[in-house]
Amino acid sequence: MKWTISNSLPISFDIVRSRNVLSLKELDIARKIIIIDHNVYELYKDNIPCDSTINILTINCTEATKGLDNAQLILNFFETKNILRRTEPVIAIGGGVLLDIVGFCCSIYRRGIPYIRIPTTLLSIIDASIGIKTSINHFDRRNRLGSFYPPLMSILDTALIKTQTAREISNGVAEILKLSIVVDETLFELLENNPKVVMEDKFQGDLADQIIDIAINSMISELNSNLWEQQLQRSVDFGHSFSPIIEMKNVCDMLHGEAVILDCLLSSCISFNRNLISQDTLYRIFNLIKSYNLPTYHADFYNIDLLNKALTDTMKHRDNNQFLPIPTSIGGCIIINDLTQDELLLSTITMRQLNNKI
Ligand SMILES: NC(=O)c1ccc[n+]([C@@H]2O[C@H](COP(=O)([O-])OP(=O)(O)OC[C@H]3O[C@@H](n4cnc5c(N)ncnc54)[C@H](O)[C@@H]3O)[C@@H](O)[C@H]2O)c1
Ligand SMILES: [Zn+2]
Repeated sequence: MKWTISNSLPISFDIVRSRNVLSLKELDIARKIIIIDHNVYELYKDNIPCDSTINILTINCTEATKGLDNAQLILNFFETKNILRRTEPVIAIGGGVLLDIVGFCCSIYRRGIPYIRIPTTLLSIIDASIGIKTSINHFDRRNRLGSFYPPLMSILDTALIKTQTAREISNGVAEILKLSIVVDETLFELLENNPKVVMEDKFQGDLADQIIDIAINSMISELNSNLWEQQLQRSVDFGHSFSPIIEMKNVCDMLHGEAVILDCLLSSCISFNRNLISQDTLYRIFNLIKSYNLPTYHADFYNIDLLNKALTDTMKHRDNNQFLPIPTSIGGCIIINDLTQDELLLSTITMRQLNNKI
């Protein structure tokens, strides 16, 4: 005897731009359960309404505290508040770390409660708010526990970016550069022509808005048809093959985007050594990274044993395939599965030479 259960889960949520989002005026919810990044709360508490409908928990968010302890705090808060599952969506306000932890907690608490994402960093606006992944770090691994769990909606207010440090903004730019190198030449050229304007303006203004909109469009078109990542050959994994282990090893002093962009540069050197991109294209990529004050050098990206270990670990998530995205032009890429030791070593040398020459 055999039985089959079959169903499908429709996924649809809006990502909307807004202004003055922290006033929460647009949210018609009787009791507001808010989980907010502690730093964001300190910066913006005067913008958040303060009345009897508001229930706030602040969370200290860093990559090092993106773990079970914070998840437990959030789950305790849900329990003490007796959340009504259908009518009281949790409001998550913060960067990618806060959004990932809260999304994870909402996905497991009482088998799932609804939540709304309000991202407050450039990186979380263009990346962590778009897909359906939630997670916490565990077993010394990034995002080791997690789920696919869509929010009710994401509300984006780019004015919040202006209180970020320059380094944190560059960190967010790294994910935009990543997209531009492998899928969007127009975006690459826009970034290439305007680093000073957008960085000095802290990503405010029309040009920054245009860059953010194009980045979100590109991100959506890459993710939408592959929300559960059943397809393992993904261009958005550019920069995410060697970087996870190296990022975790340097968790206190390397940001996510910094690890990603170093990986993008190494992967571009692999392309160059395969004659898939010209020296001029490699220089353009290198110079673009530098112009947004992102790193082009780190000793761990010259450490062949560590790079091998990192790629082997990533392959476990890709059905034992390398599936390494590398650029073939500005705005184009292929996925390779036959990187050799010699090639990897040669590419670390190319990366070192780039840093010495330019
Ligand atoms: N779920 C996904 O699809 C997805 C996608 C990309 C990244 N991520 C995750 O996102 C995380 C990185 O996110 P992040 O770069 O936003 O880092 P983050 O959440 O750690 O925030 C960085 C720092 O900025 C502070 N901050 C947040 N908003 C601020 C503001 N408006 N002004 C001033 N300071 C502010 C935070 O307190 C923190 O100290 C990683 O853990 C990564 O795994 C998830
Ligand atoms: Zn990333």
